Amino acid sequence: MSSKISLSRYLVEQQRDKGNIPANLRLLLEVVARACKSISHAVNKGALGGVLGSADSENVQGEVQKKLDIIANEVLLEANEWGGHLAAMASEEMDSIYLVPNRYPQGEYLLLFDPLDGSSNIDVNVSIGTIFSVLKKPEGSQSVTESDFLQPGKNQVAAGYCVYGPQTTLVLTVGDGVVMFTLDREQGSFVLTQENVQVPADTKEFAINMSNMRHWDEPVRRYIDECLQGKDGPRGKDFNMRWIASMVADVHRILTRGGVFMYPWDKREPHKAGKLRLLYEANPMSWLIEQAGGASTNGRQRILDLQPELLHERVSVVLGSKNEVERVTRYHDKT
Ligand code: AHG
Ligand code: MN
Ligand code: MN
Repeated sequence: MSSKISLSRYLVEQQRDKGNIPANLRLLLEVVARACKSISHAVNKGALGGVLGSADSENVQGEVQKKLDIIANEVLLEANEWGGHLAAMASEEMDSIYLVPNRYPQGEYLLLFDPLDGSSNIDVNVSIGTIFSVLKKPEGSQSVTESDFLQPGKNQVAAGYCVYGPQTTLVLTVGDGVVMFTLDREQGSFVLTQENVQVPADTKEFAINMSNMRHWDEPVRRYIDECLQGKDGPRGKDFNMRWIASMVADVHRILTRGGVFMYPWDKREPHKAGKLRLLYEANPMSWLIEQAGGASTNGRQRILDLQPELLHERVSVVLGSKNEVERVTRYHDKT
């Protein structure tokens, strides 16, 4: 790239030249990026900033919250509540929705986020991230309620994540493909480092938590079993396995070099559809993957078509390289 393109310039071009986003959505994305920058600084300080360890509290899903889960949640709320671009927010770390206080102007967007994804990796200095999804408040809705958030993922107007790894990288789609920005710490700005991100249709790499194998359903067992048989099995090639336990980091690898990521329904808690949350984990990641030419399903249906019924609804997830995701879907069709 000859001259550096900042996130701000990319967003202005999306607004002014391409007409893909209105000014308020541009502002919203700038603010989310600023919040991610601030979370990135907190992550980098680690023990020096006193941000590691548990917060001795639980979220609505019964998970023990880490200090950084709460810090990241607060950073996102504080950054986004006063700009006039939002009507309400929802987060993995909050039981119910957060309405923009009356003292601030109300906007037309809804912001959903997983403030800190990969919490089990915080204290061990492994990549973690923030995932976000933007919806429009339904027409005619005056005061926002939880049901306004229950829109299928195909309604998203922007989605992305920021991964805090060896580099801090912001990955974004506004429906015009997937772009990646790397945080330039000296300049304090996100710089465009990859455009037109494409997930290869084929892969030799899968990501799944193998320790749950005994709990899987038949189609998932069959798929992984065939991968494990390698060259001598029906797939006729050797597969490699990666599992970071931060969805952001696993999806980032898949957007970079392909692969398939699975967190399927399993028999441990059969009444739950899966572990990952539909609205602020699966939906934004699914749209990014589709925008990069990949596919995303719960095994039977396209994730972006699912009609959510609950704010913290869970879902089975299979996403990544198209031909692999289609194969897993075929295996589900047969059962
Ligand atoms: P979170 O930290 O936001 O609760 O999400 C963790 C998720 C996801 O990032 C990851 O893929 C998965 O949980 C890891 O689960 P296991 O620990 O069961 O492998
Ligand atoms: Mn998460
Ligand atoms: Mn989280």
